[in-house]
Amino acid sequence: MKKNVAAAVALAVGFAVIGAGAGIAAGSADDMINARQAEMKVNVKAIKALLSIVKGETPYDATVVQAAAKSITDAQAEAVAKDVWNASYQTGTSVKSNAKPEVWSDAAGFAADWKTLDKAVAAVAASRDQAALKAAFPKLGAACKGCHETFRAAD
Ligand code: HEC
Repeated sequence: MKKNVAAAVALAVGFAVIGAGAGIAAGSADDMINARQAEMKVNVKAIKALLSIVKGETPYDATVVQAAAKSITDAQAEAVAKDVWNASYQTGTSVKSNAKPEVWSDAAGFAADWKTLDKAVAAVAASRDQAALKAAFPKLGAACKGCHETFRAAD
């Protein structure tokens, strides 16, 4: 199950890269920037839920952990389906994007960072208690941060 999700996402990312090359445009850049920023907000929500368990503020709950992991995977799949990272959505009209030009000039690096995220999410989803989650969580945070350092401009 978990492996299938990861494989599906990897496949989806592959399609995104192909999609970007083909230049398929299906919405306005503003809509797509909003959509990818919305994906990231889902990510933050998931990270917060997980962090609370990691810190021991909330008791370990496998359902919450699975749901958080799934929300990240689902948001990513949705973004890929919408092709929100298409090069034609680099800059908006009235919506500001913080995506750096490197997202498009280094598409392979960007795709690699998504795969790093997928792996980290899979490890989090595979954890079965607080200790395991605590061990897996830092890599997830690092996956977010790692991509942002290269591909996201500061506000
Ligand atoms: C592969 C790269 C990549 C990964 C992985 C990634 N992000 Fe992002 N993130 C970006 C980029 C690029 C932007 C800027 C998008 C834009 O403004 O067009 C962004 C924007 C954001 C924003 C700002 C959204 C807004 O409203 O402007 C937040 C918050 C965020 N990311 C959180 C996260 C979290 C939490 C994770 C990990 C679970 C994560 N991101 C993983 C690339 C990534």
